[in-house]
Amino acid sequence: YNTDFKNYFKKITGTLALSVFTAVLGSLQFGYNIGVINAPQKIIEQDYNSTWRERYSEPIPSQTLTSLWSLSVAIFSIGGMVSSFSVGILSEYFGRRKAMLINNVLAFIGGGLMGMSKISRSFEMMILGRFTIGAYCGLVSGLVPMYVGEIAPTTLRGALGTLHQLAIVTGILMAQILGLESLLGSEQLWPVLLGVTVLPTVLQMTLLPFCPESPRFLYIIRCQEHHAKSALRRLTGRLEVSEDLAEMKEEKRKMDMERKASIAELFRSPMYQQPIIISILLQLSQQLSGINAIFYYSTDIFKKAGVENPVYATIGAGAVNCAFTIVSLFLVERMGRRTLHMLGLAGMCICAIIMTTALTLLETVPSMSYLSMMAIFGFVAFFEVGPGPIPWFFVAELFSQGPRPAAMAVAGCSNWTANFLIGMGFQYNLCGPYVFLIFALLLLLFLVFTFFRVPETRGKTFDQISATFHNHPQNMMDMDQGKHSTELDYLGSDGTEN
Ligand code: GLC
Repeated sequence: YNTDFKNYFKKITGTLALSVFTAVLGSLQFGYNIGVINAPQKIIEQDYNSTWRERYSEPIPSQTLTSLWSLSVAIFSIGGMVSSFSVGILSEYFGRRKAMLINNVLAFIGGGLMGMSKISRSFEMMILGRFTIGAYCGLVSGLVPMYVGEIAPTTLRGALGTLHQLAIVTGILMAQILGLESLLGSEQLWPVLLGVTVLPTVLQMTLLPFCPESPRFLYIIRCQEHHAKSALRRLTGRLEVSEDLAEMKEEKRKMDMERKASIAELFRSPMYQQPIIISILLQLSQQLSGINAIFYYSTDIFKKAGVENPVYATIGAGAVNCAFTIVSLFLVERMGRRTLHMLGLAGMCICAIIMTTALTLLETVPSMSYLSMMAIFGFVAFFEVGPGPIPWFFVAELFSQGPRPAAMAVAGCSNWTANFLIGMGFQYNLCGPYVFLIFALLLLLFLVFTFFRVPETRGKTFDQISATFHNHPQNMMDMDQGKHSTELDYLGSDGTEN
């Protein structure tokens, strides 16, 4: 493993590291805005109330307050749903890098609106700001994994792809910590808490001009061989890139024979049907696992579970979340996507059952509060082993250059829709602990699906992966059964053993 590791690190050039770092600054904001709204709820509600009083000279009806708050939270995912659908068009028209650059405009508007809503005495601004930042995050959730997947060397695609999720979870944790009342989660400072999301934007805009555009995009889509070559040289640190180029040429040759892959075509063409169904189901397995029931409502759940300091327990969950994403980062190129995803789903399923039991027994057996907290931590840990990071980059892996943008759009939109449904539908107060049994059942179904349908993609080039779906029944069967230790598995992008 040690030599393996050294070889991996050798492939990470300064330019590659800079480009991935710059891209995932967007993911950091995505996470930050998921996590930021949990802690300061009561304080922001007070402000909504005082604005209402000023306008109508009466306190806000509690029903109206609840609705306004739910809207402020949920409209974030609606923004994501809407924008993720345009990932394909934007990334093809402007290119991956410019699309990320332009997207920052949304972050400025969103952060600005939220940050100014208190002085402007307008909850409308806050709601519009949440929508806009949600739209920004929707584009991030497609553009970043696509860009990173395209610039990564084959043997590191999973590890670098996981950095998108690592940045998301880091963002969540930062938001949880900054949201403490003693830091920025106070009556005076909450606008700063929501507004600081523009800081990574500034950094990203400064750095993006130094990052090369995706060579695959330049060559396969734009036919700019010369530019593609120089981008490849910068990313690999090698002058000699003809082998990488040859691999793209092959992909391009096949793509030129295919019809243009629109979203409708993804569902119609037998070649894309399998991978698009897998992509959608993986996104659903991520969201319908119930993870955001924890991340949106953890403080509530810990409180009900009798945990003494629910806010700190929430931060604990955020820390576990980060730690296990790092674990996955180191495992994903060794154990493969399929195994880790199944391991994660199975572990979550077991933790969900323990959680339900512990929460149900809580009244009679007080020590259950400890067990339920451990079960929640376990649930989060297993999530990050597979279902958290893998679906994001797996879609980019399953498709070749032509259909990839449309596929990212469909997958992203499914993810955001499911996220929205969980955010709206799950209210721990209303559902009680049994709701986790529903998640356990769904997790089991996704586990079975993954076992039978999801192929292993580790170490394979995009071309090799998509070839497995192109009427190669034997290949498909091998992959179905997870027999991934074929010769291909040990080949790098350049076709040499690594
Ligand atoms: C994934 C999910 C996101 C969730 C996060 C938790 O990125 O897409 O919805 O909140 O993981 O770590």
